[in-house]
Amino acid sequence: MKTVNKKERVQQEVICNEDQFGHWGDPENEKFFHPKPKVLNIFPIEGKAEKLVEEVLKRDLTKVIKFRFDPINVCNLACVFCTTDLQAKHSQISLDSFKKILEKTSNTCKRISIGCSYEPLMAKNIDEYLLIAKEIISKNFKEKPIVTMITNGLLLEKRKLKNLGFLDWIHISVHSHIKENFEKIEQKAKFEDLVAGIKDIRTKYKDLNIHIEFVANKENKNDIEGFIPWAFNELKVDSLNIRRVSISSYAPRSYLEQSLKKNMLIGISDEEWNDVQFKISKSWPSKLSTTPSFNSEDQILKKQAMTDVIEL
Ligand SMILES: C[S@@+](CC[C@H](N)C(=O)[O-])C[C@H]1O[C@@H](n2cnc3c(N)ncnc32)[C@H](O)[C@@H]1O
Ligand code: SF4
Repeated sequence: MKTVNKKERVQQEVICNEDQFGHWGDPENEKFFHPKPKVLNIFPIEGKAEKLVEEVLKRDLTKVIKFRFDPINVCNLACVFCTTDLQAKHSQISLDSFKKILEKTSNTCKRISIGCSYEPLMAKNIDEYLLIAKEIISKNFKEKPIVTMITNGLLLEKRKLKNLGFLDWIHISVHSHIKENFEKIEQKAKFEDLVAGIKDIRTKYKDLNIHIEFVANKENKNDIEGFIPWAFNELKVDSLNIRRVSISSYAPRSYLEQSLKKNMLIGISDEEWNDVQFKISKSWPSKLSTTPSFNSEDQILKKQAMTDVIEL
């Protein structure tokens, strides 16, 4: 996808890369409605919440391996590097639609990710989606898929979730352990709420794999050495990944587009990234490295300075 100007549609050179259905950068473009997809990207479109569900249910879903699902198209934060269009009007996919797709993909789907482009905890009834997934998987699926939820974690305490323990892992994006930097990057967030939310689920769900994703950017590149021991020792998370911020493509109306227009410095140079990697290798003592108990190669965190990017 190319960098876009506000009025342009997002351009994509390769159509349906890896047989994907749905494209968050150009949701209504039928070019992205693959007839026999392996990957589903299903999210609500502004004013047409069920459009992608209706379209996908008309396709042959017998080859689906991965189901990426966003129940809702909004977020409570405004991260300075976020590539998603978060100015759209609130729209939500129904529980019944989620159930139908799960049922149709139950023979082949190995991976279900909830909340890939927006914020899943903004759905007040998010716990019901987790419950439906749990029920359909135990009733219809031949093999249990790996189920994860990707969230900024801010509403964890407020939602009082009962079904989190069913997840194989929860992926929480946290970009600094220094309140001032955290709130500068994750605009509208309150650092104390995040910490309380993670500590709350750590206490309630002893066996849940809590994974932290840190996106290294201009603002937090010097926080990493301190962040790693803080995440493991203070938050008691199970795994951690440091990912380099990407600024090459983004949706129109995204916060990244706004930041770049204001000439904010977001990206980091190759030299800075090398420096980050060097610092990580020093601040990541082996006792702090943990490997979550996942089987597939793409999820295994290795005991090295830079972990592999965790696929969503
Ligand atoms: C778009 S968010 C949606 C889920 C949830 N709201 C969250 O932040 O975890 C999915 C992941 O993309 C990351 N992300 C967003 N913009 C990014 C960028 N420009 N470069 C790298 N990662 C980015 C977020 O930090 C998060 O880990
Ligand atoms: S990256 Fe930040 S702004 Fe974007 S969806 Fe996640 S929490 Fe919201």
